[in-house]
Amino acid sequence: MKFFVDTADVAAIRELNDLGMVDGVTTNPSLILKAGRDITEVTREICEMVDGPVSAEVVAEKADDMIREGKTLAKIADNIAVKVPLTWDGLKACRALSDDGHMVNVTLCFSPAQAILAAKAGATFISPFIGRLDDIHLDGVELIADIREIYDNYGYETQILAASIRSVNHIIEVGKIGTDVITAPPAVIKSMANHVLTDKGLAQFNADWEKTGQKIG
Ligand code: G3P
Repeated sequence: MKFFVDTADVAAIRELNDLGMVDGVTTNPSLILKAGRDITEVTREICEMVDGPVSAEVVAEKADDMIREGKTLAKIADNIAVKVPLTWDGLKACRALSDDGHMVNVTLCFSPAQAILAAKAGATFISPFIGRLDDIHLDGVELIADIREIYDNYGYETQILAASIRSVNHIIEVGKIGTDVITAPPAVIKSMANHVLTDKGLAQFNADWEKTGQKIG
């Protein structure tokens, strides 16, 4: 399972990247706002740090404008994946940017039908938002299963990038289905290390060690 980090927080990416846990990064306009940085400057810094794809999102709504913005973003670094929304214009931009040799991440996917169109339009990644489906009482994990089945039936090469991940459970469930990539906030990735029995076991070991009166080193 490839791990992308869903943030534009450079320090948070660096901490995970130094552990070899970062296969890529995803950003969006909301994450750029949260970082409080200039999009070109922060994206360039992330691209220099991380070896894998770094998604940077267009904000235009018309295909021609998306293509222009996408080409501008792609100039930041060779590892930019241009992110376009799953609209009809977004699919047109996906086809043009993909034909032009750019990686394209088609975002805001909420149905298997949308995911099929993205694959047909040459997307490198499709980003189904599982948390936001859960928010409206639909099953986000089931969407990943549906897309996996359809893509495998036809050998589509578009990678499934499970997005809007809110919990460790989301990561495990989409991993069992065989998502190609997950993108999650740094805090969710770090919380994968937590287990109540690890904490309990460690407390017991520490208490017993103190009773031995010994020191290591
Ligand atoms: O990768 C998409 C992500 O940034 C959206 O997450 O939690 O805002 O639905 P969320």
